Amino acid sequence: MEKTLIILKPDALQRGLAGRIITRFEEKGFQVVAMKQMLVSRELAEKHYAVHREKPFYPRLVSYITSSPVIVMVLQAINAIAVSRKMMGATFGSKAEPGTIRGDFGLSNSFNLIHGSDSPEAAAFEIGLYFKPDELLRFERAGERWIYDMSGSTPE
Ligand code: RTP
Ligand code: MG
Repeated sequence: MEKTLIILKPDALQRGLAGRIITRFEEKGFQVVAMKQMLVSRELAEKHYAVHREKPFYPRLVSYITSSPVIVMVLQAINAIAVSRKMMGATFGSKAEPGTIRGDFGLSNSFNLIHGSDSPEAAAFEIGLYFKPDELLRFERAGERWIYDMSGSTPE
């Protein structure tokens, strides 16, 4: 099973869309293994977005993500990173396909509602930035055997 870091960005909370976005992941079958609401500090934002430091949109990105509280989550699933990125849609709300989170809920090319890790390495780094190891709660879900085919040695 793969883990990914998802952030519901300030616009998602300010627009009252957090519940609907979380519901999409729950309905798909993702397991929420950690979740909290927090204000991202400038220091944390600069660590998270270090890869974008030289980009023209970087100052705006840091002020956006630190402007108001966010909800950070660790989601677990088979292929969690690729599946969640597909559900999020293209980076810009104006380009994202209908049916995706950004495509259904946003128009902005900057305020795009959600962040998701884009590789296993990024996920491990980002989960470590936002959560302590003991904040990740792995628990058996009652309905797990109807989300995955458990008849073999690994969930399919
Ligand atoms: P994210 O990291 O937030 O999941 O989004 P992403 O992979 O789809 O996009 P990325 O290229 O990593 O950019 C990070 C965030 O920076 C803002 N951005 N603005 N105005 C622009 O050209 C521009 N490009 C990126 C967005 O908030 C994007 O999510
Ligand atoms: Mg990215």
